[in-house]
Amino acid sequence: VDDVTLATYEARAQTYRDLGGVQRPALRSFLDRVAAVVGDGSILELGTGPGFDAALLEARGCRVTRTDGAYSFVEMLQSAGHEARRLDVRTDAFGDGFDAVLAQAVLLHLTRDEYSHALVRARDAVVQNGLLAVTLKEGDGSAWSEAKLDLPRYFTFWRAAEVSEALAGAGWSVIWIDHVMGATEPWLYVLAHAV
Ligand SMILES: C[S@@+](CC[C@H](N)C(=O)[O-])C[C@H]1O[C@@H](n2cnc3c(N)ncnc32)[C@H](O)[C@@H]1O
Repeated sequence: VDDVTLATYEARAQTYRDLGGVQRPALRSFLDRVAAVVGDGSILELGTGPGFDAALLEARGCRVTRTDGAYSFVEMLQSAGHEARRLDVRTDAFGDGFDAVLAQAVLLHLTRDEYSHALVRARDAVVQNGLLAVTLKEGDGSAWSEAKLDLPRYFTFWRAAEVSEALAGAGWSVIWIDHVMGATEPWLYVLAHAV
């Protein structure tokens, strides 16, 4: 839909990093659950950002491939000594053979159609029975917001039923969808496996 959101991240990577990551207990348990399923297997992370979640997952023994649509984050990760590559979830190839795909607060920047398309490519990126871990904002419709970064970002809001439907259409079977209250808004934490 737009390159405005990515341009915001290009300009505000440091600001975003300084906001910090993972604190929420629900997010920690979500990532722990992913690590428990994946073990020492491989995870393709979409929209890694500063890499808070990747660090936690690696500390649990998982192998994480870091990617992001913003060069600013790719360079930040590389400067910290990690391998990272640019991957725009709307257009770029995901690769294949991963045990899991993680997209934490990333696919919420896509339109509904772009989201469904990304789910199909995520399905093709994992092995049989592979895992998908996604977090989205819960609600209706979509909106532009300048919250937190003082530049515009686009968000699509989702309800659990439409998330399930989109997943089923893309070859995923829902394990669970959790309703989690964030700092200011409700979120959906989604786990699914490839069928
Ligand atoms: C809200 S941040 C979340 C970052 C990280 N997952 C975390 O939880 O800290 C959204 C991330 O998605 C990335 N992003 C936005 N649009 C993208 C796109 N089309 N393709 C890939 N990454 C994108 C941004 O650069 C940013 O790193």
